[in-house]
Amino acid sequence: MNLVDSYGREIDYLRISITDHCNLKCYYCTPFSGRSHLERSEILTYEEMLNVARAAAAVGITKIRITGGEPLVRKGVVEFCRMLSDLDGLKSLALTTNGIYLEEMAEPLFKAGVRRINISLDTLRPERFEKITGYNWLPRVLAGIKRAEDIGMHPIKINAVVMRGINDDEIEELAALTLTRPYHVRFIELMPTSGSAHGDYETLFMPVEEFMKKIHQIERVQIEPTTDSCGPARLCRLPGAVGKIGFIAPISWHFCGSCNRLRLTADGKIKTCLFSQKEIDIKNALRTGATLNEIIDIFRQAVAEKPSGHHLNAKDHQNACSRAMRAIGG
Ligand code: GTP
Ligand code: 5AD
Repeated sequence: MNLVDSYGREIDYLRISITDHCNLKCYYCTPFSGRSHLERSEILTYEEMLNVARAAAAVGITKIRITGGEPLVRKGVVEFCRMLSDLDGLKSLALTTNGIYLEEMAEPLFKAGVRRINISLDTLRPERFEKITGYNWLPRVLAGIKRAEDIGMHPIKINAVVMRGINDDEIEELAALTLTRPYHVRFIELMPTSGSAHGDYETLFMPVEEFMKKIHQIERVQIEPTTDSCGPARLCRLPGAVGKIGFIAPISWHFCGSCNRLRLTADGKIKTCLFSQKEIDIKNALRTGATLNEIIDIFRQAVAEKPSGHHLNAKDHQNACSRAMRAIGG
């Protein structure tokens, strides 16, 4: 059974944010107005999330990505992944992490069925890492990436959010990781979300066309057409490289026309677009004994209400997103 929205897009991908807690305070993600968190009772239990996932898989969702906050800080995440892996109809289980707990958790996650992992890494310089994230933990992230590779996770995608004056001088160095490692290193345009970038969005935002040019060989390589497995990124391979580099440009190059995703937030709302204020509550149904079919109906309603796209640009971004990225999961 397929889910097709009002614009003919097939929706087969669900991102589940299992917590809004994070063990880092990244500049572009954590609101500067302080660290408010959801109450425990507001957060869906794993069983409730599993019920949503079961309904989703029953109507055509084939891929689930676990996000946060930082998903690896929530207790029981490995067992949750194992239960998701057993769902009928699910073809792919992926997870996005900041990598802090990855060294110790890569193997249990792999055994629980997680094969695809995306890791945030905006810099290779320890002092800069501390400046961006608030903690001096770069070695832990690098060890986590290595561990994930060693145990056979594939593909390993590295996400670097590009910020003018903060890490835009490191693009070439990050891209060079792909010369010897089989990773996808993806450079991401900074997105405006509630309280992110400490109110400094316009200064920090750098458009993709500008940061691409910082990679020496870029003009000699062919940007590949997008495919399901590359997600929102446009990929290319540097000459002689083992891995690939990619560009994710939600502002300059909309990928809304091929958007195939819905999001479930930790507090039980379905978001139909990262930048839509619209949220469809599913928690109440889950907590008042809704049947599988009733949950499926809410899911279908969300798909029917999915907007054609967002209308953001780098200048007009006030109120772009009412939640901090940390509470949506990217
Ligand atoms: P796959 O397609 O499964 O590989 O995942 P992904 O690349 O979409 O996931 P990831 O969590 O690594 O996100 C990478 C970047 O893309 C982050 O900056 C996300 O916020 C952004 N992103 C993911 N989905 C969307 C989307 O639907 N809209 C927008 N604007 N950005 C998105
Ligand atoms: N702009 C662009 N990407 C962001 N991420 C988090 N906040 C932002 C933002 N404001 C990315 C992180 C993470 C992914 C889930 O979302 O790099 O890897």
